[in-house]
Amino acid sequence: MAYEFIITEVHDRAGLIRLNRPQALNALNSSLMAELGNALLAFDADAQIGAVVITGSDRAFAAGADIKEMADASAVDMLRSDLIGPWDIVTTIKKPVMAAVSGFALGGGCELAMMCDMIVASETAVFGQPEINLGVIPGAGGTQRLVRAVGKALAMEIILNDRRLTAEEAYRFGLVNRVYPVDSYLEEALNLANSIGARAPIALQLAKESINKAFEMTLTEGLVIERRNFYFLFASEDQKEGMDAFVNKRQPQWKGK
Ligand code: CAA
Repeated sequence: MAYEFIITEVHDRAGLIRLNRPQALNALNSSLMAELGNALLAFDADAQIGAVVITGSDRAFAAGADIKEMADASAVDMLRSDLIGPWDIVTTIKKPVMAAVSGFALGGGCELAMMCDMIVASETAVFGQPEINLGVIPGAGGTQRLVRAVGKALAMEIILNDRRLTAEEAYRFGLVNRVYPVDSYLEEALNLANSIGARAPIALQLAKESINKAFEMTLTEGLVIERRNFYFLFASEDQKEGMDAFVNKRQPQWKGK
């Protein structure tokens, strides 16, 4: 499918989506986000794809939601168009989704990265929520996901006082999984996606679902979901294959069934 604001590629079992609005530092306008949602759904439905990577350019992952698109909107315009609603697709994807972040990941760019399951960063990545400078607050999950990722004290500084995190700080505070030089972060993100994407597909899906429940439920409720998902996997051919392969000292062949 031809897109205007993104480029899609396949690297072995990793689906790659490049945000491609360089003249606006990948500012996330509604057309780009609609394309991103469509590309994610297409990769999620493609049995050849095991995991997805979203990246930008070396200079900017994304400098936020498109300020020019929303500058003149009224509250009623925002409510009725629900500008951010379509972003939720990112969190409904069943396969693992990784962000490969270099340069600016600001505002909605940081929020998009946090919607992903993991973040691989280049040494030049900068994470921040500068919406306070525009007279607004994060609107795509920043006030919630940043607190869960780095804790209340630091989230307050980032959102209330536009503190920006270097890649090294983001790693230290648990926002990102790994940091690499700018010339290798994307390749490393694709390697990680291919490593994860080669594993048992149904187990991956239920593992991701169970981990995400930890953010939404009490411990007791989350443990019920985990146990049901664990037991459910015994209905899959992959569970029989995986355990038989272990017992017979051979490599498993996953079918996703
Ligand atoms: N929206 C629209 N256009 C943007 C943009 C954004 N978020 N960020 C950058 N651009 C555009 C600039 O307007 C500029 O376009 P022109 O050449 O047509 O003027 C182009 O991208 C290059 O940007 P700069 O000239 O500003 O580049 P710089 O290197 O001097 O600065 C920057 C880079 C620090 C990232 C700066 O562009 C900046 O501060 N951008 C805005 C960051 C921001 O406030 N993000 C939050 C947006 S609101 C949001 O995201 C809400 C939410 O929670 C969903």
